[in-house]
Amino acid sequence: MTVTQYLADWRPYPFRIARTRLEFDLAPRATRVRSRIEFQRIGPGDLALDGAGLKTLSLAIDDQPLDLGLLPAEGGQLVIPAADLPERFTFAAEVEIDPEANTALEGLYLSGGMFCTQCEAEGFRHITWYPDRPDVMAPFEVAIRSDQPVLLSNGNPVAAGPGEAVWHDPWPKPAYLFALVAGDLRAISDRFTTLSGRSVALNVWVRPGDEPRAGYALESLVRAMRWDEQAYGREYDLDVFNIVAVDDFNMGAMENKGLNIFNSKLVLATAETATDGDYERIEGVIGHEYFHNWTGNRITCRDWFQLSLKEGLTVFRDQQFTGAMRSAAVKRIQDVQTLRARQFREDAGPLAHPPRPDSYQEINNFYTATVYEKGAEVIGMLKRLVGDDLYRKTLDLYFDRHDGQACTIEDWIKVFEDTSGRDLTQFKRWYTDAGTPRLTMAEDWRDGTLTLTFRQETAPTPGQPEKPPRVIPIALGLIGPNGDEVLPTTVLEMTEAEQSFRFQGLGARPVVSLLRGFSAPVTVAREIGVDQQALLLAHDTDACARWQAGHDLALDALVGRARGTEAGAEFGRAIAGVLDDAETDPAFAALCLSLPGEEEIATTLAAQGEIPDPDAIHAGREALARDIAAAHEPALARLCDAMADPGPYRPDAEGSGRRSLRLACLALLNRLDAGARAEALFDAAGNMTERQGALECLIAAGRDTRALADFAQRFGENRLVMDKWFMVQPLRAAPDRAVARARDLAARPDFDWKNPNRFRALIGGLAANHAAFHAADGSGYDFVAEWLMRLDPVNPQTTARMTTAFETMPRYDAGRRAHARAALQRIAALQGLSRNTREMVTRILA
Ligand code: PHE
Ligand code: ZN
Repeated sequence: MTVTQYLADWRPYPFRIARTRLEFDLAPRATRVRSRIEFQRIGPGDLALDGAGLKTLSLAIDDQPLDLGLLPAEGGQLVIPAADLPERFTFAAEVEIDPEANTALEGLYLSGGMFCTQCEAEGFRHITWYPDRPDVMAPFEVAIRSDQPVLLSNGNPVAAGPGEAVWHDPWPKPAYLFALVAGDLRAISDRFTTLSGRSVALNVWVRPGDEPRAGYALESLVRAMRWDEQAYGREYDLDVFNIVAVDDFNMGAMENKGLNIFNSKLVLATAETATDGDYERIEGVIGHEYFHNWTGNRITCRDWFQLSLKEGLTVFRDQQFTGAMRSAAVKRIQDVQTLRARQFREDAGPLAHPPRPDSYQEINNFYTATVYEKGAEVIGMLKRLVGDDLYRKTLDLYFDRHDGQACTIEDWIKVFEDTSGRDLTQFKRWYTDAGTPRLTMAEDWRDGTLTLTFRQETAPTPGQPEKPPRVIPIALGLIGPNGDEVLPTTVLEMTEAEQSFRFQGLGARPVVSLLRGFSAPVTVAREIGVDQQALLLAHDTDACARWQAGHDLALDALVGRARGTEAGAEFGRAIAGVLDDAETDPAFAALCLSLPGEEEIATTLAAQGEIPDPDAIHAGREALARDIAAAHEPALARLCDAMADPGPYRPDAEGSGRRSLRLACLALLNRLDAGARAEALFDAAGNMTERQGALECLIAAGRDTRALADFAQRFGENRLVMDKWFMVQPLRAAPDRAVARARDLAARPDFDWKNPNRFRALIGGLAANHAAFHAADGSGYDFVAEWLMRLDPVNPQTTARMTTAFETMPRYDAGRRAHARAALQRIAALQGLSRNTREMVTRILA
C-alpha cells in the first residue's frame, strides 16, 4: 500500500518534549536502546510515536508498564489515547535492534565494524519509538555503552569512562539530527577560537592509518568556521565539533548537531589519491555541513515539504564560500553547468517538481537537484533583487526571529518582505511551481534606441498544467561593436508574460550581454549571429556571459554535427582566440575548450523539437573534437606543456586551473595521437588529477590495458581510488564496448556492490556514458535495470536515486523508449519492491 503525504495535512504536534534521554548498549546483532522522553501537553490529541523494525521489549508511561498489545501490527505509529495521558509524563521504552542486518544504511548500522547512524529524514524511527518529525525538538542526553574505543554523540561530552560515554546536547533538535558513532577511530585535531572568544575543539575522526589523509578536511573546516563568522556573523555554539568519515554512506554527508558524519570520499585526500575536483568538493561539503549548524539545525524545517528552506539556503552558502576561497567566476560557471545538467534535466522530465513540493510518497526521493540547486538559485535571485546589504540585514533578521524554531518557506519569504517592503507573492511561485521558464528575447534597433522584448513561457509539468508568469531578474549589459562596454550590468525585473525595455541614446547598435552571472534559472532563446557571439566571447566583462557565448558557439557546432553537417568553422576560429589568451586565465580557458557533453547536445536537440540520436551525437562530437585538435595542434601542444606543474602540488584555484587546462588540451590532442601523450602523462603523473585525466584519455583511445593494470596494482588497497577505476572504464569506454566492459567489471570479486560508492561508480559510470546507456539495442538499459533490481532489497534509497538515469527516456525514439519502458516495467514488477523505488519508477513511467 502506498500512502501519499500532503503538505496541506500538516498539524501541530500536541506535545512538547522537555528532555530526551537515550541509553545504548551496543552489540552488532542485538543493540538495546532505552529511552525516557519527558512530554508536556501543548494542544489536543493522542500521543503518536513512529517506529519501524523495532523489537519492543517494554513500554511505560511514568514507569507504569503499557500493554504491548498497543503496538501496531506491522510498522507504523504507536498511538496512546489522549484519555490515558496526564498533562506531563515520561514515556519510556526498551527496544532491541540489529545494526548488522541494516544494509539500507538508515538508522543505526555497521560500516567496516564501526557503529554509525543516519537519521535524516526518517531514520530515527529505526532506532526507537519517537515523534520522528522535524518540528518536535528536544535537548538530548545520550549514554553509550560499548567496548569500542571511541564513543561519540551530539553536543558536549559530560562523562567518559572505560566502556561508557555520556553526551549532552543542550540545543533543542529534531530526531533527524541525532547521531551516534562507536568505533576504533583516530582523530586529527585542532582548536578554533570563535568571534566572541570561545575555544572549540575540532576533530576529524578516521580509521587508524588514515590520519595523514584527513588534513585538508580539517583545514577546510577552519576556513568554513571563519567564513561563516565574517560573511554571516554566525558563530559555533558547542565546545567540540566532530567529523567522522565512514565508508558506507548513501549520500555525501550529514549535518548532525556537533557530529557531522561524512562519506569517507568527502574527507580523505592526498595529492596521490584525490583529484582537484575531489579537493574542491571536500572543501565545499565540509563547508556545507558546517553551515547547516545555523541554516538547518538552529533553525530547522517544520516539515519535509520545507526541505529547501535548509538545503537551498545551505547550498547557496556553500557556493558563496567556495567562490570566496577560489575563483568566484569559475565557481559560478561550474554551478550553472551542474544546474543545467541535473536540475534542468529533472525539470524537463517526468520527475519535475517544485522546490517546495506539496506531496510525496517517500521523502528520501526529494533530496533532489530541484530542492538543493534550484533552491539555491531562488535565493540568489532574492539577493539580486534586494541587493547585498539588504540581503545581509534580512539574514540577520531571519536568525534573530527564528532561532530555535522549525520554519516554513513562508517564514523565509516574510523576512525578505519585512526588510525590503516588497510584496513577494508573485516571487513565491519559484518555490511552488515546477518547470524551467524559457525566456525569449527579440531586439528592435532604430535611431539609437534598442528595444528588447522578452517573453516567458513554462511548459506544463506533472500535476501543474498552468504556469502563470514569474518574477525574472534579468541582468544584462551592452557591448559596443568595438568591444567596449556601453552599459554596465543592469537588472531588469520581468513580471509579465511579455515585457519590453528600452535603451536610448546609443551611438551604434550594441550586442546584448544577456543573463549576466546567470541571474535566473531559465533557458534563453534569442537571435544572435556568430560574429556577435564571438564579440561577446572576446570582450564581455561578465565571465558567465562570456563563457556562455563560447559555449553556445560550441553547442551550435555540435548540434550541426549531430545532424550530419560540417558545422564548426566559427567555433574553430573562436577557439584560436581562446588559445591565444589562455595563459591569462587557464581555468576559464579550460572551460571554453571542454566541449559540451553528449547529454547536453541531446537536450539541445530535444529543446528544438528533434529526437536526439545518441550515436550520431557521439560520432559528431568526436569528429568536431578531431577537427579542432587538427586545426590547433601546435597551440594545444604548447599549452599542454606550458601548464605542466611547476612545483609542489597545491589543490588551490591556481594549480587546479592550470591542470584543468592541461587536461582539456590533452583530451583534444588525444583524438590525434591515439593516446600517446596521455600515456606519457600517465607514467609521469605526480598527482591523481593528472593520472586520472590521462587514464580517461587512454580508455577513450582504447589503449588502456597496461595503465589499468598499473593503476590497480598501485591503488588496489585503496577503496576510494579503486572507485575511480571502476567508474572511468564504463564512463569513457567507446559506446559499443562499454556495456560489455561494465558486465566484466561487475563480475569481479572486488565489485562490492553493497557499498554505495562502489555501486554508483560502476552502474552510475555506465549510466553517464550517454551513447552506451542509450544503446539502440537496449543493452545499457537492461544492465542498469538488472543491477537496480539486485540492489533494491538491500538498499532502497540508493536504488531509487539511481532510477533517475531513466528520466530522459521520453525524448528518445520509439525503439529506445520501448526498451527503457520494458526495463522499468521489470523493476516495477519485482516482488516486494521498496516504496522508494516504486514511487520513482511509477512517476517515470507515467
Ligand atoms: N542533509 C544532508 C545534506 O545535504 C543530506 C542527507 C540527506 C544526508 C539524507 C543523508 C540523508 O547535507
Ligand atoms: Zn545539506
